[in-house]
Amino acid sequence: MAEDPEEGMLSWDETVFRDEHVFEIDYVPEVFRHRESQLQTLQYALRPAVRGNRPLNAMVRGPPGTGKTTAVQKLFGELGAQTGVRTVRVNCQHDSTRYAVFSRIFEAIFDYEPPSSGISFKKLFNQVTDKLVEREEVLVVALDDVNYLFYENEASDTLYSLLRAHETHAGAKVGVILVSSDLDLNVIEELDGRVQSVFRPEEAYFPVYDRTEIASILGDRVKAGFRDGAVSTELLDRVSEFTADAGDLRVGIDLLRRAGLHAEMRASPVVEEEDVDAVSEEAKHLHLARRLDGLTENERALMEVVADHDGERAGDVYEVFSERTDLGYTRYTEIVNKLDQLDLIRAEYESLEGRGRSRVLSLEHDPGAVRERL
Ligand SMILES: Nc1ncnc2c1ncn2[C@@H]1O[C@H](COP(=O)(O)OP(=O)(O)OP(=O)(O)O)[C@@H](O)[C@H]1O
Ligand SMILES: [Mg+2]
Repeated sequence: MAEDPEEGMLSWDETVFRDEHVFEIDYVPEVFRHRESQLQTLQYALRPAVRGNRPLNAMVRGPPGTGKTTAVQKLFGELGAQTGVRTVRVNCQHDSTRYAVFSRIFEAIFDYEPPSSGISFKKLFNQVTDKLVEREEVLVVALDDVNYLFYENEASDTLYSLLRAHETHAGAKVGVILVSSDLDLNVIEELDGRVQSVFRPEEAYFPVYDRTEIASILGDRVKAGFRDGAVSTELLDRVSEFTADAGDLRVGIDLLRRAGLHAEMRASPVVEEEDVDAVSEEAKHLHLARRLDGLTENERALMEVVADHDGERAGDVYEVFSERTDLGYTRYTEIVNKLDQLDLIRAEYESLEGRGRSRVLSLEHDPGAVRERL
């Protein structure tokens, strides 16, 4: 028989993956390593809820990609299965006002969205708490990426309503977990005094994973996601090293998936170094892409303007921006501050000859990379 030139090559319907889904962002891993002490702290805080009592509040902090959201998902998976406990995780990047947060809570409790015609916050709040009391349920709310509530100046009001629900509604039992990945933000200090006095959370810190931890976690993912032999130990080491340099596990997971797709494109049944090299540039910009995805239209517009006017004075940038958006200077300044806090731009005071001090806006990333992803 003649030798098949295609031997050792993938055909169209063949794949290097066993289960590509394990590389997607919403996947909750089966094994969750290296976070035992953090999980213990959170379990300790939430335990009273299982007995029908108000849990302790908790605060989760740590850089991006360190397992904070996953920890909450794992815990809520267990806790939500208990009768008498209702768990709700709110993604504050998308729901960044008090009203939006309570709409999510309403939806979780009633299984449908609140009327879009718009009811007052008070009504929304009353319906939520009345239902909880009626059902004798303890509510545990995780405000994930709570830093976004701070950027919008909504954090204190939101927390105030949640933490004092039992005062306005006898019998309401609510516990709160705050999750923040902005290490420059001092959550407690930034809250109003009236909220500070009732918020004394248990704290869990999620440090970045070191290289060995990354290798073990990515190893699990490779086993679950790739066919046997598709990814060698050496290749896994290389990906782990790259991931440790980036400091975010998500980069490694994304890199594995992209490298797998790249290998398939070459019809190779094995993922090689060249596949990793070919896609690593894109994986590196994962943070940037994620941050940009969460922006509103006006915020994106400002990113575009700054990309075209990198390093210019805030006043001059505003001239261009206002032509595009009709927004006033106050709102403009708010957006500048938010983008600054998100590390997308830098807004720094510089003395200008004869003109006093003015802020100068510059991009934190390469303008080309930003434009490409907007
Ligand atoms: N210990 C772990 N074991 C397995 N997978 C993990 C672990 N920690 C994190 N991951 C995975 O890494 C990715 C990022 O984790 P996660 O979303 O929980 O991070 P995060 O701390 O919430 O990040 P961010 O602050 O950016 O929201 C997810 O795909 C998650 O499944
Ligand atoms: Mg998260």
